[in-house]
Amino acid sequence: MEDRKITVVGAGTMGRGIAQLLAQHYVNVHMVEQNQTILGEAKEKIRGQYEILREYEFITEHEMNEALGRISLSDSLQDAQNSWMVIEAIPEVLELKQTLFQTLEEFCGPATIFATNTSGLSINQISVQLMHRERFIGTHFFMPAAIIPLVEVIRGDETSNQVCDEVMQFFKKIHKEPVLIQKDIPGFIGNRIQHAMAREAISLLEEGIATAEEIDTVVRWSLGVRLLFTGPLEQRDLNGLDVHHHIASYLYKDLENRTEPSRLLSEKVQNGELGTKTGKGFYDWDKDSQAAALQMKNAQLLQLMKWIRK
Ligand SMILES: NC(=O)c1ccc[n+]([C@@H]2O[C@H](COP(=O)([O-])OP(=O)(O)OC[C@H]3O[C@@H](n4cnc5c(N)ncnc54)[C@H](O)[C@@H]3O)[C@@H](O)[C@H]2O)c1
Repeated sequence: MEDRKITVVGAGTMGRGIAQLLAQHYVNVHMVEQNQTILGEAKEKIRGQYEILREYEFITEHEMNEALGRISLSDSLQDAQNSWMVIEAIPEVLELKQTLFQTLEEFCGPATIFATNTSGLSINQISVQLMHRERFIGTHFFMPAAIIPLVEVIRGDETSNQVCDEVMQFFKKIHKEPVLIQKDIPGFIGNRIQHAMAREAISLLEEGIATAEEIDTVVRWSLGVRLLFTGPLEQRDLNGLDVHHHIASYLYKDLENRTEPSRLLSEKVQNGELGTKTGKGFYDWDKDSQAAALQMKNAQLLQLMKWIRK
């Protein structure tokens, strides 16, 4: 891995997590970020995440310092040249991503793999104006990227088999759980399922059926615990498909199926209630509870991963 350079564009939440993960696995990472404040803070924020890993004995202090030494930063896309792969983690706006990759084509040779961390935009549309669409692929990490094992690898219509193979092998080597998704559909698999559940949960809240705490408690302590061991389809086999069919016959017509974001969600966004980042979302957050929640969740996830790997 040490001979490989990967450029990560965007040093926000996901870009930092991806850089942290790669550097820990002996990859030389260059991060490109256009916002000087975010650029200036990126390495310290990554160090903070490594400190949690160190606390739970995932890495030693020496390994942490070595990993940090593999990360370089700049504000110039030109520095992406000679990369084996470029992973884009800039905002979820199609035109921004299209323009970015067109610029990158000026600096990188045709052998460099171009990957997008889009949550669900079309791989074909992001790459439509590129000259070398065969090297373009989706690599969708889940937050926190350095901890959650899965990466959805999405092939576009023109992505070559060789690029798919190389990317899949690379993720296996760095102990990720990659799944190759053969069809470029909106939201891929993870976000389709996540949003179906969130749409129902927000609808239950909007209808006043239960509070946010009650809805979260039901999901966490039933489906949440079970889902780690049996996926939704395997679980249906365990329950019995006849049982599922009976329930589906009366329940599906009652489930939320609106095709636009709900009134409650739209109002919250319009009022600036964006969650932890603004101090209010479905819950209220102050600076301490917000930092504690994020820190604690990462620590809990790490302990869980440690137990699973054993
Ligand atoms: N946040 C999540 O939970 C999550 C999970 C999976 C996928 N994603 C996807 O990952 C991508 C990034 O999300 P995020 O949450 O990290 O966003 P973010 O807003 O935290 O970070 C984006 C960063 O990109 C920088 N940027 C914008 N344009 C740039 C450019 N041209 N060159 C260099 N830097 C640029 C911004 O300054 C910002 O620091 C999005 O496509 C998002 O949908 C997010």
